[in-house]
Amino acid sequence: MGFSTECIHAGQEPEPVTGAVTYPIFQTSTYVQPELGRHKGYEYARTKNPTRGVLEAALAALERGKHGHCFASGMSAIDVVFRMLQSGDHVIAGENMYGGSYRLFSRVLEKFGLQFTYVDTSNVDAVRGALRDNTKIVYLETPTNPMMTITDIAACAEVAHAKGALVVVDNTFCSPYLQRPIELGADIVVHSTTKFLNGHSDSVGGAVISNSDEVAEKIGFLQNAVGAILSPFDSWLVLRGTKTLAVRMEQHDATGRAVAAFLEEHPKVRKLYYPGSLSHRQHELAKRQQKGFGGMVAFDVGSLENARTVLESVRLCTLAESLGGVETLISHPATMTHASVLPETRARLGITDGLVRISVGLEETEDIIADLDQALSKI
Ligand SMILES: Cc1ncc(COP(=O)(O)O)c(C=O)c1O
Repeated sequence: MGFSTECIHAGQEPEPVTGAVTYPIFQTSTYVQPELGRHKGYEYARTKNPTRGVLEAALAALERGKHGHCFASGMSAIDVVFRMLQSGDHVIAGENMYGGSYRLFSRVLEKFGLQFTYVDTSNVDAVRGALRDNTKIVYLETPTNPMMTITDIAACAEVAHAKGALVVVDNTFCSPYLQRPIELGADIVVHSTTKFLNGHSDSVGGAVISNSDEVAEKIGFLQNAVGAILSPFDSWLVLRGTKTLAVRMEQHDATGRAVAAFLEEHPKVRKLYYPGSLSHRQHELAKRQQKGFGGMVAFDVGSLENARTVLESVRLCTLAESLGGVETLISHPATMTHASVLPETRARLGITDGLVRISVGLEETEDIIADLDQALSKI
């Protein structure tokens, strides 16, 4: 079936008891057992919930994986992946990624004896060079937040697999509509469902999708053992969101390209970071690896003062953290999403005080551009 059809139907049979076409919210903490040791596959709602189960099956299908598990946030999904490891294991991670992921690795997981090496994963030789005998995971984010750097997933999977390491890809920025890492050789995909998958800025959640029964068994065990599960209501919201994923992503992509083209020509914009632009150093790789370029755009206006002017002058765009919703969100990575990254690292990566990030929403393209134009004119 085509992707749009799967968004609406994969894993989503009508509910068998009532025939409800929209799968219901099973708001229960437990399930009756007619006799000791006999039940209908559901014992306790941390372990299994039907609404969550339908979402997990749907997300697995969309990412071309076999198994899905949903969590209370993107961070709890990422955290659980690393709980498969043990003290002394080594991880290679991208030097530019969502600041919260870096915070989890450097300030939480390292305390438990996991070793992290941060490299520019867009350079496959750097990944190869960092591999050790105890490397268990190569963790990729592509495109990266916020610099929009692309990593060649297939090439990294080849070098990682040669050493027996798993490849984990955070696919939050693209969603499976634009990029399917498992088809490119990744072992595990993680998501902040908070973003494009839910798409409406009204739920926080996360997902882990894998193709291996062995990995899925470990993640399922940890989901129950640790307990950071996605609630039935949030599962239902994300299910509703994913039904329109294809049409939303098409529009995010179309408007994202138009906004990026406008920004690139604007005299107040010093530098644009958008993989769809011919000036992006990895445009060809992005074209090959992704179905489109999406709605995430970053641009540099040269100074904190200029960035502040833009961020405080917009009227339609909303100054807020997060991304992937129907409304255009604008943010300042250095003080918001990436405040937990060391200032010298931020400077090296290009996350300057003048960098502004936009999650292009689904408003009229002309309205978004007009708003940015009037805000930039105030510089
Ligand atoms: C790329 C990426 N991964 C993971 C996360 C964390 O997700 P959550 O906020 O749902 O915990 C975010 C949040 O912004 C993100 O941008």
